This record gives sequence, structure tokens and C-alpha cells, in this order.
Amino acid sequence: MKKRVKLFALLLLPFAAGAQKTASVYINGNEPKQTISRHIYGHFSEHLGRCIYDGFWVSDTSTLPRKDRIRLDVVEALKKINIPNLRWPGGCFADEYHWRDGIGARNLRPKLINTHWGNVTEDNSFGTHEFLELCSLLGTEPYICGNLGSGTIEEMNKWVEYLNFDGLSPMTELRKQNGRVAPWKVQYWGVGNENWGCGGSMTADFYADQYRRYATFSKNYPGAPLKKIAGGPSSDDYNWTEVLMKKVPLNMMWGISLHHYTIPKTWADKGSATAFDEKEYFASMRSTLKMEELVTKHSIIMDRYDPAKKVALVVDEWGIWTNVEPGTNPGFLYQQNSMRDALVAATTLNIFNNHCDRVKMANLAQTINVLQALILTKGHQLLLTPTYHVFDLYKVHQDATWLPLQINGPEYAVDGQKLPALNISASKDSNGVVHISLVNLDANNTITIKTALNGISFKTVTGQAITAAKFTDVNSFEKPDVVKPTAFNGAKKEGDNLVVTVPKLSVVVLELK
Ligand code: AHR
Repeated sequence: MKKRVKLFALLLLPFAAGAQKTASVYINGNEPKQTISRHIYGHFSEHLGRCIYDGFWVSDTSTLPRKDRIRLDVVEALKKINIPNLRWPGGCFADEYHWRDGIGARNLRPKLINTHWGNVTEDNSFGTHEFLELCSLLGTEPYICGNLGSGTIEEMNKWVEYLNFDGLSPMTELRKQNGRVAPWKVQYWGVGNENWGCGGSMTADFYADQYRRYATFSKNYPGAPLKKIAGGPSSDDYNWTEVLMKKVPLNMMWGISLHHYTIPKTWADKGSATAFDEKEYFASMRSTLKMEELVTKHSIIMDRYDPAKKVALVVDEWGIWTNVEPGTNPGFLYQQNSMRDALVAATTLNIFNNHCDRVKMANLAQTINVLQALILTKGHQLLLTPTYHVFDLYKVHQDATWLPLQINGPEYAVDGQKLPALNISASKDSNGVVHISLVNLDANNTITIKTALNGISFKTVTGQAITAAKFTDVNSFEKPDVVKPTAFNGAKKEGDNLVVTVPKLSVVVLELK
């Protein structure tokens, strides 16, 4: 009997916690290709819940360190991860936003209803000047989304004039009266948001025609050409992309947006941010990996019309969307952020890096206190989420040269369903330093990877890892450092190559010098 138990235990060994799997990876350093645009690492701040109000923008009586009402600890944290661009004012809010409500003396600005997000009062104290001041403090490029859904062409035209014109005009006079002499020269310009849904419930054909009109009157002023981004499809609405590519001349758009959220369960009941089992974790990762298929298929359509890849795919909303935290306003989309979120972020960024020939920009939804946030705040407290730490480790890929790679790796199986356990991207920076980011999604198995590195010579390898005992582990205001980067010693040089042991549920970023 004892013998049989032992035999059974031996058979189970590969499935036990800490069991090992193997993979081989080939990285080609001889074929440096495109640049991974730093704008893939962009963020999104909507007038939604506590992202702007009580996130970036605090009360005028707050004793927190602040510039005007902008919270400076938030600014410092975001500067550390080199945030390259910030999208604003929405989201769904953008297609209800009338920019003139948010300029001039604050006490005279209208108080309105934010109908999309909880019907709360929008006091317009955070408007154009405040957003652009925030961008300047962050050292980041503004990405403004104009109102095509409920705004007029004249309104969009005048907003661009107010922002970007340097000569004499009614809008530049108004800007000066409001305290700003020089134009801001905003480049990234969204022409509507989700116009198939909250942005006007339009058909693709109708939107394409509207885009042409609004984009025509969004002027390029001297020294301030716009990079116009058309409101693109939701997830796998390939027809939307096809119609835009067919109907809009390529020189009229810099990019087409794409929105895809990771949904653990269903849209009606998305699942909890903190209490979920392995089945739900697996489903979340499957929904995340769908991004690979979406980017590939939308790119194939774009390639047919634009083989030179002049038009960018701009994934300007992505991330995991769960149920709100119990007891919080359902319209505020406040959710916790776990080790699962770190794996969602790292996997998605690997996908974008590996498609950097077409994906030139992306924006995680959203920066503070909303959806897959980088930062959560509570009064004076601020915590950095597992997702924040991924962006911190991955910043090494910004504007680096992408290195092509091939993975022959194991699968991660739950209930007979399978997905690739491993995803990786690699780049070489301007100093010749190679960075490899590896993600092991498997909740039970370590993966040992033998790499063949072609044309990459290095003397040392160092690394950092983000991992946790459970995919549900979170950073809380009581315990803010449960999930954070630590030194990684699982990589060693073997001859000219590299052997890496990647722990289960982990994100590892290696530096080869
Ligand atoms: O990010 C939250 C919302 O999700 C955005 O406002 C909208 O564009 C999308 O549906």
C-alpha cells in the first residue's frame, strides 16, 4: 500500500506546485527592425470616478504637496515610469465635453451632470489649462480627444485654434486673457471616441464620413501639425476598420484606435478584482491574449490599404475591467489591482512590443483609481499597484529597437483548455543594452528556458522580477508592498547563450550588458 502511494505521488510530481517545464527561445539580434515607440506606454485619464477629481486634482484646501490643485506625489510617481503621453478628457466623457465650459475663471464655469459616470456634478474646475499644466509637470505629451458625438465642427475647429495657433485670432486672444500666451502645440488629436457606442451609436459608414468632415476642420497650424486619430473598432469589429481604411484617405489620419478590455467573466458580471479562482484567472488571461489576435487581424486589414504602414494602430483603451469594489459607486469603476493585473499588463505590453511595426501608441485604462489603475489613493495615502511596477520595469523598451524572437514553449492548461504559458519580448536600447521581458502565466509550474541568442554578445545578465504567491495577491493601503519588483537571480550565462528559470506567475525583465 505504501509503495502504491509513493508511486502515485511520483506521477503527480509534474503537476505539483513548483513543478518544472521547459522551453526554448531564439532571439535574433542580427535583425534589428522597427523601434518600439515609447507611446505604447501611454496612459488615460478620464473625467470618471476618482481619476481626475480626488485623483490628480484635489481640493483647494488639501494640505498635500500640490501645484495649484494637482497632487505632486502622483506626478512624481508617474514621472518615474516615463509616462510618454496622457489621453484626456475621455472616453465616453469626451463626446459630451464642451471645452469652453472648462476655461476662464473657475467660479464662473458651469456645473454640469456627468451623465456617463454616476450622474455626479462636473464642476469643470479641471479643464484645458489644468490638463496641459499637468502634462507639463509630468513631462508628457497630451493626447486630447475631441467631441464628434455631440459637439459641432466649429467647436472642434476652435479648440484646435485655441490650443495651437500662434498668431492673432479670437481664440488666441481668449487664450491670452485666460493666462496663456504661447500655444501648447498639442499633437495627438482624437476625432471622437467609441462612436459606434457612447460616442453617438453611429454606423461605420456614417462615422467615416463624419471623421472626414471633423478632421478637415481640425487644422494644422504652423509648427503644430496634428496627428489625427480616428475612433476605431471595438475588439473584433473588423468591418469598422475595413470601412475606415476604405473611406478615409490615408493622409487624413495618423492612426485608428482600437479598444479591447480583459473581461474575466461576462460584461454583465465581470467578476471580482480580488476573489477569483484559477478557472477565472485562466479565462482572464485568455481574454488578454485575444489582443494578439485582434492586433494581427486588424493589421492584416490595414496592410491591404496601407502596405507601407503609415497609419498607426492606436490601442487607446485596454486593461482588465472587473466589478467595482464592494460598497463603492458603481459608476466610478474603482477596482483593486492584483498579481493578475501585473500579468495582464506585462502580457499585453509584450504583444504591443512584438507588433510595433503597426502599434505605435496605446493607453492603459486608467491612470488613477479607475479600472486597471497604476495608482490608488485614499485621502493622503497613495499606493503603487502591481501594474505600476510592470510599467516601471518595462520602461526600458521605450524607443528601443525591437528584436524578433521565436518561442517553443509549454502550454498552461485548466479544465482541458490551453493557452501559451510563456510570452516574451526583447529590445536593444541606444547603448546596445538588450532587455528581455518574460511572462510565465502558469499558476503552477516554473519554466526553464534555454535561449539561443543570435548576434547578441554580453558579459553580464541581471534582472528584476514581479511575482506573488497567489494571483489574487494585492497591494493594500495597510500592506502596500506585497507585490513589487525584487532582484532576480534565475538567469545565467551559458557559453554565448542564456538559461533562465522563470517562476510561476511572474514577470521577469532581464538586462544583458
Ligand atoms: O474606460 C472606461 C470607458 O470604457 C470609456 O469611457 C469608454 O471609451 C470605454 O467604453
